[in-house]
Amino acid sequence: MFYPDELIEEIRYQNDIVEVISQYVRLNKKGSSHFGLCPFHNEKTPSFSVAQDKQIYHCFGCGAGGNVITFVMEYENYSFVEAIKVLADRVNISLPEPEISEEMRKMVQYKQQLYDANKEAAKYFYHQTSAPLGKKAYDYLNDRGIGDETRKKFGLGFSHFFRDDLYQYLTSKGYSDAVLRDSGLVLEDKNKPGELYDRFFNRVMFPIFDIHNRVIGFGGRVLGDGMPKYLNSPETKLFDKSKNLYGLNIARTSRRNNMILVEGYMDVISLHQAGFDNTVASLGTAFTKGQSNLIKRYTSELIIAYDSDNAGVNAILKAIPILEASDISVRVLKMLPYKDPDDFIKGEGPERFEEIIAASIPSFMFEVEQLEAKYNLSDPDHKTKFYQGIARKLVELENEIKRDSYFEAMINRYNMNPKALNSEMEKIGKDVGIVSHKREDASSSEGKIKNRFSKDSIVVAQKNILTFIVSHKDIFEAVRPYIKPSEFVDGLYRQVAEIIFELYEENLEINPAMIINKFVELDQQNNVAQVFNNDVKVENGMQFEKMVNESVQILKNAYIDKMSGQVTEVNDLQELIKVKRELQDLYISLNHG
Ligand code: GTP
Ligand code: MN
Repeated sequence: MFYPDELIEEIRYQNDIVEVISQYVRLNKKGSSHFGLCPFHNEKTPSFSVAQDKQIYHCFGCGAGGNVITFVMEYENYSFVEAIKVLADRVNISLPEPEISEEMRKMVQYKQQLYDANKEAAKYFYHQTSAPLGKKAYDYLNDRGIGDETRKKFGLGFSHFFRDDLYQYLTSKGYSDAVLRDSGLVLEDKNKPGELYDRFFNRVMFPIFDIHNRVIGFGGRVLGDGMPKYLNSPETKLFDKSKNLYGLNIARTSRRNNMILVEGYMDVISLHQAGFDNTVASLGTAFTKGQSNLIKRYTSELIIAYDSDNAGVNAILKAIPILEASDISVRVLKMLPYKDPDDFIKGEGPERFEEIIAASIPSFMFEVEQLEAKYNLSDPDHKTKFYQGIARKLVELENEIKRDSYFEAMINRYNMNPKALNSEMEKIGKDVGIVSHKREDASSSEGKIKNRFSKDSIVVAQKNILTFIVSHKDIFEAVRPYIKPSEFVDGLYRQVAEIIFELYEENLEINPAMIINKFVELDQQNNVAQVFNNDVKVENGMQFEKMVNESVQILKNAYIDKMSGQVTEVNDLQELIKVKRELQDLYISLNHG
């Protein structure tokens, strides 16, 4: 990070959260809090609250929450640094220019030239579509149903058939050969060293934007038939295909709460034009972890609408585990007999598309259906294999509730014997250690936890303990002898625990907004904010005590399980076993009264 912690804390301190949020949301004071309609989800009665004393906000409806910096990040879709800049400006704090080396400065300048060259090229291509020579591209887009407004929004253009007109144009604007080569816009003639010519000619041009609306590359489609159908910019200093999604610059601010993932440029454009402004494309390349992480920054629900052919189905099966490893829940859209979303919209229109979204199936069902297609269910051996496949897939589900409901669904749908399915699952569970192979690479060390508690309950336990101790010093004192921050298995909660323990030990005040400030990523801030707004329902002191103890048990068990997967020395292992045995008798009694 660029700025010192003290400066960020000062910026946060000077920007009163009620004042800032009031610029965006109408707030009414009720008791010690201010309430309003949540800007992050649709609602009719206010469940969005802002606490002036704690300097944090929280929505009881959708779980959004954080401090004033989080709010600006979330509302404006800004990065941490962008939000800091706006808030510093608001209270007239001037930020120091980040110190960078001469070398860095040159690099930044060079990259800026690459951005500028791409932007100039995009403008050049765009203007061609309204010039006489570009009429056939204009007509092509028109024939495909793309209106002027959409053409403008996506900056669609045309590279006509001259060999080096773009090169000449950009040279006249002062760009050097080196910059133009590195931009991927021009190539060197193999037979005439030093002679440069345009990469793209006679193609409809689709500029590719990054999330800051900067042009980083292009796709070009032949008019009519020809090979290759699409030609894309090569990877450059600006363009990393595995970390970009076409259309995300627009989809990121969509008010819809999910995203649609498609294969092609035209699918994105058609869907946006039809009102589905939450559509992005992976552009023919295999879907990557980087793209999955990018999506996760904006939504945790994705609908895949890849082409209906075999290649599309296989690509979906590959993308599902990648997305699920980022904690994105995935549904799959069925468009048959149409080939892709663009065709579907043309043939059936937006209302029908809305309907097939509603009828999309969860990724689990899709995977089972694809498995089913491999077998002939009237053959007993095939049927057995298929059922075993289902059992394996069920075992792979980490969430118990989810596992239960799909268990039900499978039994009903395929008329399976629950007992037989259950014992098959137990058998597989023993063999693989209740761990999916799929998830193991995605969440390496966590994947090896072979525990009696689900991952969810471990998260809840950690969160609850933090909530208890953060609001009651006496509970902190009571649990202090039994737990250490290092025993929190999730890195985020471990960090929060470290901060809270340290503050108590130094006899300092616990300041929620300041703690949230230590985290830069939006979802981290949201998670930390939940610790301070965690509404744990208990009826009496006894129940509360029981809950504290249960949470501590879960926390310590998870820690022991995690460590037993990591220790290699026999002594350490024995020590762990001892701790585990002691845990059975551990009981923390709280002095309530
Ligand atoms: P239209 O025919 O214009 O509707 O294209 P489409 O989007 O239906 O194309 P298709 O399903 O064939 O391909 C999906 C995506 O894969 C395209 O949008 C391109 O990003 C990419 N793609 C397709 N063909 C090629 C190719 O020949 N070369 C490269 N590099 N990418 C391609
Ligand atoms: Mn198509």
